[in-house]
Amino acid sequence: MLQEAWWKRGIIYEIYARSFQDSNDDGIGDLNGIRERLDYLTWLGVDAVWISPIFPSPMADFGYDISNYCDIDPVFGTLTDFDALLQEAHRRGLKIILDYVPNHTSDEHPWFAESRSSRNNAKRHWYIWRDGKPGGLPPNNWVSQFAGSAWTFDPDTNQYYLHSFLSKQPDLNWRNREVREAMFQVLRFWLDRGVDGFRVDVAWLLIKDAALRDNPLNPDFRATQPAINRYLSLYNADQPEIHDLIAQMRAVLDAYSDRILIGEIYLPFSRLVTYYGQNLMGAHLPFNFALIHVAWRAQEIATLIMDYEKALPPGGWPNWVLGNHDQPRVAARVGAAQARNAAMLLLTLRGTPTMYYGDELGLARVSVPPEFAKDPWAKNEPGIGVSRDPCRTPFQWTGAANAGFTTGRPWLPLDPDYRTQNVECLQHDRHSLPGLYHRLIEIRKRHRALSIGDARVISADDDVLIYERSHGSEKLVIALNFAPESRRLSAPQLTASSMVLSTSMDREEMASDLKLRGNEGAIFVLSPQGRSGAGA
Ligand code: GLC
Repeated sequence: MLQEAWWKRGIIYEIYARSFQDSNDDGIGDLNGIRERLDYLTWLGVDAVWISPIFPSPMADFGYDISNYCDIDPVFGTLTDFDALLQEAHRRGLKIILDYVPNHTSDEHPWFAESRSSRNNAKRHWYIWRDGKPGGLPPNNWVSQFAGSAWTFDPDTNQYYLHSFLSKQPDLNWRNREVREAMFQVLRFWLDRGVDGFRVDVAWLLIKDAALRDNPLNPDFRATQPAINRYLSLYNADQPEIHDLIAQMRAVLDAYSDRILIGEIYLPFSRLVTYYGQNLMGAHLPFNFALIHVAWRAQEIATLIMDYEKALPPGGWPNWVLGNHDQPRVAARVGAAQARNAAMLLLTLRGTPTMYYGDELGLARVSVPPEFAKDPWAKNEPGIGVSRDPCRTPFQWTGAANAGFTTGRPWLPLDPDYRTQNVECLQHDRHSLPGLYHRLIEIRKRHRALSIGDARVISADDDVLIYERSHGSEKLVIALNFAPESRRLSAPQLTASSMVLSTSMDREEMASDLKLRGNEGAIFVLSPQGRSGAGA
């Protein structure tokens, strides 16, 4: 039987590099720290690790402002440390995916230093420079994702440059062939070193309207929203030319075997799926963030699954993301009781799952007092709840000082719960949340119906979502109760089934009354073939 590609079968785990494990007492996570913790990832059972940016950076946006694409920032280690991590990960069968940040460099990147040095510099058009409008106004009305105008005036050359994020993150001009070639060389640099793929930062923003037209006002804008929502992103995002560019990136990867291209794309399904590209020659996985934004109810999630499946192009492989370093953590969004269902949902849906470090420990919204605040977005727009600090706090390994994350002063505070909510305490408690993740991953691997099988929503009545996964003669049914009270299961299929796993991990059978307890989810196996493989 043809083996499916690793990125279809596998599970991706995002590590926010500053917060996973510090190995040199500076309070910031690093590459040697990640290498020391590979045993844990192997235990958990994930297949690939995506690491947030580790390249030299002034850290205005914590690594998303890069001043050299082909080296490692000393805070994270050295190229030798990186090679050692890659080698050790590969020895264990773990893939390494890097963060590729093509939309913008740091203003301290030598390319930008040249570009801003004069209007005639050879690299002037590597970035997007324009004259202002009369009256000292910027060239258009575009707003930075982090608030304020997306244009900064440079008095030395009397023009403005565009930055979709901070003024310290000038946007590259991807319409320029030299920029494309230089940035494709960056991909090759890491591919030659052996990395297994890239997550492309803000992939849907790379190309801007050629005429840089003003965006229209958003009629639904409310003052409590971030400034970026004031206008509709008609001309600064999701431009038609983007697909040719992504296909070119993909072609760079395709010269190597078995590498993956993932796109960070925040768009509705109908637009998102266009990023698979013509003949699926775009991103292998345009990240699907719908679970992050959905109202956590059975009916809404059922609709989401069906809409997504319907939107996918033939052969396009689905994927689901439960959390990342820009969003409130899943336990903060859905609550501790439903976090178990969220884990079961993620790991039983059709499509590659992406987990976010620490979600498996149940980390929620860690409180970060104002004097520790780091996120530049929250500094630009205080008081409206956009800070990403609460989802970026250090991982919790042990009950010792600073949870074993560092012997220095952690760059962000830890959750005060760390003395009990840590890997050491929870890993071998099979009822714990990490215990559940571990078991779900094991079950997903054991059942092809779960990893590569078909999916069908059966019902979403009375707060219970029921769906089926099948492959050949193997059939599994997943039922998730979104209500805090118990619910009777009405699916007739389940009368001839056996339970493989309950999210509460304290029973392996269901009484004949077919009831799920409040907030409980369960996996059942229906076919005789599956049943024989279902034992613990
Ligand atoms: C992406 C990153 C985010 C960063 C931004 C600018 O959305 O995930 O953390 O701030 O791009 O690079």
